[in-house]
Amino acid sequence: MMKTASAVHGDPPLSGDMAAMPTEAWTPSSWQALPAAQQPEYDDAAALANVLGELGRLPPLVTSWEILALKQHLADAQEGRRFLLQAGDCAESFAECASPRISNQLKVILQMSLVLVHGLQIPVVRVGRFAGQYAKPRSADCETRNGTTLPSYRGDNVNGVEFSAAARRPDPRRLLQGHMHSALTLNFIRALTEGGFADLHHPEYWDLAWVEHSPHAAEYRRIVAEIADAVRFMETLAGAPVASFSRAEFYTSHEALLLHAEQALTRQVPRQSGWFNLSTHLPWVGMRTAALGGAHAEYLRGIRNPIAVKVGPEVQPAELLHLVSLLNPDDEPGRLALIHRMGAARIADALPRLLEAVRESGRRVLWVCDPMHGNGETLPSGIKTRRFANIRSEIEQAFDLHAACGTRLGGVHLEVTGENVTECLGGARALAESDLARDYRSTVDPRLNYEQSLELALTVVQRVRQNSASAPTD
Ligand code: PEP
Ligand code: CO
Repeated sequence: MMKTASAVHGDPPLSGDMAAMPTEAWTPSSWQALPAAQQPEYDDAAALANVLGELGRLPPLVTSWEILALKQHLADAQEGRRFLLQAGDCAESFAECASPRISNQLKVILQMSLVLVHGLQIPVVRVGRFAGQYAKPRSADCETRNGTTLPSYRGDNVNGVEFSAAARRPDPRRLLQGHMHSALTLNFIRALTEGGFADLHHPEYWDLAWVEHSPHAAEYRRIVAEIADAVRFMETLAGAPVASFSRAEFYTSHEALLLHAEQALTRQVPRQSGWFNLSTHLPWVGMRTAALGGAHAEYLRGIRNPIAVKVGPEVQPAELLHLVSLLNPDDEPGRLALIHRMGAARIADALPRLLEAVRESGRRVLWVCDPMHGNGETLPSGIKTRRFANIRSEIEQAFDLHAACGTRLGGVHLEVTGENVTECLGGARALAESDLARDYRSTVDPRLNYEQSLELALTVVQRVRQNSASAPTD
């Protein structure tokens, strides 16, 4: 039996009828014949149709060339020639579509990537969870407060976070606002990264106001100084400035959750075969919507973008192999990333059999570790948090498990912010429960703040170095 939308709650395993492999041809709307989990219930079908018509006419956000370039980079990451850093907010909000937040988000990702490039000695593919991360899956359809029950907040693309009937009513016009806010965000990101801001000659442009107070400031400064030396050396050798040092490639990603909207941005382009989702470079499907036989997998299988799927601890090897062959039947390099998110307590038990199954199948995937979503907890006070120690532990275990299995961890998927928030416990500054109230801003999942993000990048480097030092040399 396939799951129906209303039955998919919580953390279900990938599931579905194995016989439900596609027999029908794919079209941008073929997902509509299958059960689609986590879709809002709009009460005005005509308004939805109008919005989708308008979305379908508006210019897209990204191009097929960029999408194919990213696919090539991800193919390199599969082979160990690049490392993927995919990071950003759990959810963006329209209210926070503002200059400091966006530039701070870029800064922290640029800084982390600098630490990774320096430590791993390979290029880093930077993918933001931004310019479209406006829809969230929820474990319950409704929320009750003081006896009043209203639809859950599903992200700004669906409804408002305020607890009132008017705000919580799913409004399709929000999809248009979402498209506009994504375009504004991406326009600013493109301007910053193409111009002087991302210039490797001036990493001080990326400094956040609080960098000096970070316990990792000295180590970061040392890395920056070494890179500045290397840049000068390369340019001395070349006898001219190296143009690529002055700009940074950035790609976008979001959870492809609201399938009507994704469909409206799925287009054909001149001189390319097939269909591209032109709202983002790298759409991913979340753990709650990754069911085999479900609408999300059906939608993803037909687009030409590189795609990613979250994999939770309940997934069985046979299910995963089915999903891999559904989503990448031709075993195309760079096409499919599997983002495992098991939790520090479960990864050692749940991951190895999946790694082994995929390795034995000979199928190409890019393995990515999300150490955030398996490590959420709610404190007695009701605050949602994550412990830095668990996040670090999941990353470290992931590297070790891949090394033991002969597979390669080619990237990380993180929820970070350039803001100085207090949402995750621990880290070098040992944020305690009593600190969380000081600056907790997320309306969804807790994010690593600037210092914790940098610390995690340093952890990745340490672990990779440690494992390569102990790897057999023959
Ligand atoms: C997310 O990435 O914000 C998310 C909801 O993750 P997952 O699907 O892994 O739970
Ligand atoms: Co999240």
